[in-house]
Amino acid sequence: MKTLKLKVPASTANLGVGFDSIGMALDKYLEVEAHLSADEKWHFEHIGPHLLGLPNDETHYITNIANRATEKFNKEMPALNLKMFSDIPLARGLGSSASALVTGLYLANHFANLKLSKYELLQLATEIEGHPDNVAPTIYGGLVLGVYDPELNHTDVSYIDIPKVDVIATIPEYELSTEKARKVLPETLFLKEAVKYSAISNTMISALIQHNYELAGKMMMKDGFHEPYRQHLIPDFHNIKQVAIEHGAYATFISGAGPTVLTFIKKELSGKLVRALQDEFKNCESELVTINRFGASQEIINL
Ligand code: HSE
Repeated sequence: MKTLKLKVPASTANLGVGFDSIGMALDKYLEVEAHLSADEKWHFEHIGPHLLGLPNDETHYITNIANRATEKFNKEMPALNLKMFSDIPLARGLGSSASALVTGLYLANHFANLKLSKYELLQLATEIEGHPDNVAPTIYGGLVLGVYDPELNHTDVSYIDIPKVDVIATIPEYELSTEKARKVLPETLFLKEAVKYSAISNTMISALIQHNYELAGKMMMKDGFHEPYRQHLIPDFHNIKQVAIEHGAYATFISGAGPTVLTFIKKELSGKLVRALQDEFKNCESELVTINRFGASQEIINL
């Protein structure tokens, strides 16, 4: 039987001041094996702790996305049998819903024969998500900058080299929904503030391009678009940042909408810091994560 195997990475969004625009793919994955369902009904088998409690029938989010994509192109989405494994914890700011969204689009692309390119899949993913910062790196890999124009319904993206730093994720045991973390943000900013934070963001990107991680890190920690409004939702954020800075980190910032906290640090210093974070913040899992370079991948196998 022909089976489609997908491996779809996690992602971290914002990188401090790149709110809703900048994201980076990480080597944690949603892995899926899918084939046509014999009884024409959707069946999901979830493996591992992170997918516990998700529906195992057509009410699944992934079915919804696949149907939405096929309807847009006036095609039929066949029902599938899916086996899914994930090491991306849910509602932690590591792009688990973007990886599910991209999975739904890849399934539609293959099984409804849409023949969409990665560029077209990105357009569709951003139209659904509303911003490209998780879906773009999930599809393409690496560090991606993007902008979605809702009036034109169009997304443009650009890339820069992945930073030559070690990345530590400090993942709290509690969840924080993106919805809740977006509700605390202000509706509008004064022009003066918008100019300030976009200048900081510009400088951050230029510093990353020049591999000047001291300056990039300094800029990442001057965000004014989301972190000041969200930090109270992550009680350990301030102390994690303190410990990281004492250990020589370049920057510590909220991953996506949180509650995961991400740290960029020199390779020589990362081991000592990850152990210190693990010792000090027992209600969090601190781990070194590598950056994914190539984004979502698929292969067809005969099982
Ligand atoms: N940029 C988004 C946010 C990422 O911070 O709310 C999560 O969707």
